[in-house]
Amino acid sequence: MAQRILIVDDSPINLKAVTLALTGVGYEVVAARDGREGLERAETTQPDMVILDVQMPELDGYEVCRRLRRSERFSTRPIMMLTANNSLHEKVQGLEAGADDYMGKPFEAEELQARVKALLRRSGSSPSQQPVTKCKVIALFSLRGGVGVSSMAVNLAAGLAQLWGGGAALVDMVFTGGHSGLMLNLPLRHSWGDLATKASAEIDAGMLDLALLSHPSGLRVLPSAPRPEENEPITGDLVASVLGVLRSSYSYIVLDMPHSFGETTLAGLDAADEILLMLAPEIGSVVATTCALDVFSQLGYSREKVVLMLNAHFERGGLPRKDIEKTLGRPLDVVVPFAHDLFTSALNRGAPPVIEMPTKPLGSLLEDIAFGRSDEDDRRRPAASASLALQRVHQRAAQRQRAKS
Ligand SMILES: Nc1ncnc2c1ncn2[C@@H]1O[C@H](COP(=O)(O)OP(=O)(O)OP(=O)(O)O)[C@@H](O)[C@H]1O
Ligand SMILES: [Mg+2]
Repeated sequence: MAQRILIVDDSPINLKAVTLALTGVGYEVVAARDGREGLERAETTQPDMVILDVQMPELDGYEVCRRLRRSERFSTRPIMMLTANNSLHEKVQGLEAGADDYMGKPFEAEELQARVKALLRRSGSSPSQQPVTKCKVIALFSLRGGVGVSSMAVNLAAGLAQLWGGGAALVDMVFTGGHSGLMLNLPLRHSWGDLATKASAEIDAGMLDLALLSHPSGLRVLPSAPRPEENEPITGDLVASVLGVLRSSYSYIVLDMPHSFGETTLAGLDAADEILLMLAPEIGSVVATTCALDVFSQLGYSREKVVLMLNAHFERGGLPRKDIEKTLGRPLDVVVPFAHDLFTSALNRGAPPVIEMPTKPLGSLLEDIAFGRSDEDDRRRPAASASLALQRVHQRAAQRQRAKS
């Protein structure tokens, strides 16, 4: 069984960074967002070790540490403090409060893992590995609104469903009011609202099958509830549980993400195998992309996990591609040109271009993008057993090859 570590920190980004570093090497992580919740979770989940942020409102890390040390159960379990400014004063205070070790922020994941391992070795056994599953979760994200995240998520999910004969799910993570159901012309008979108040441990495949809508393309859709307040009870734990269960039922899961780093968003990004980071050719979007890349690196996401997609969603005056690449310090992986009103009119009718016009330039491009984001084993599948969509992808690739030679 994996060893359990409780992390108490009021910053969602820090919480996720520590969680990622530790789950990545097989620990089970329990998170708490303030001192009081930390003390409660320490009692209810019985962690093998506790990591405490120092500066938190109300009960700070020192006080939580002192109270834990007073209880018999935690008198000897390892406690580590995360100190913001790494000052000698903070370290001494932490050790006086009863901590076994401390780490300065920002920290390197490797150092954290090594210190945690050393502390746990002194008091117990070694960690186990996470199970591996065959599903690709793709999150579409941008810190700036209106750059085409939802349009692309709907087309990518529908494209994957058409290419691989179903097996794809689109999950709307925009809990303030997402529109994926609308973009596919699906009446919202079910939604996240059906799941919002469930405990994460209650979620199972049967329950999700009832909550997901069915699109004629074979795509399954979990839309956001029509009213934001219905989505309000959704927690990061619930998102992680829903995506974990969906993983065992679908080959592809596409996430339409909001433009922020809240708890539920971080749970979605965390669960993603690939993040399609979208930007438009304008300065605000490039700045937002730089910031998102910074946070991703803080969260310990690998460079390969992030794919950059430029979407020219306006007609004229965009920044040149080479300037954008220079600013970002890496090449753009996918570029989508301005498509006049094709996106808007197709989506207004509830018919994404990848479904409605797969032989027209925009539909073909979107289908090729869906193929490009597909799992490597799928892309190598023999053309003999191919869907119509896959046949079109192969035909276009052959045409491009002929045009080159
Ligand atoms: N390549 C493109 N060419 C032309 N129009 C586009 C293109 N991509 C997206 N659009 C249009 O841009 C608008 C914004 O797209 P969309 O709603 O998908 O963005 P978003 O990032 O999800 O926005 P929000 O912040 O509202 O969630 C829509 O009207 C869409 O039709
Ligand atoms: Mg959107």
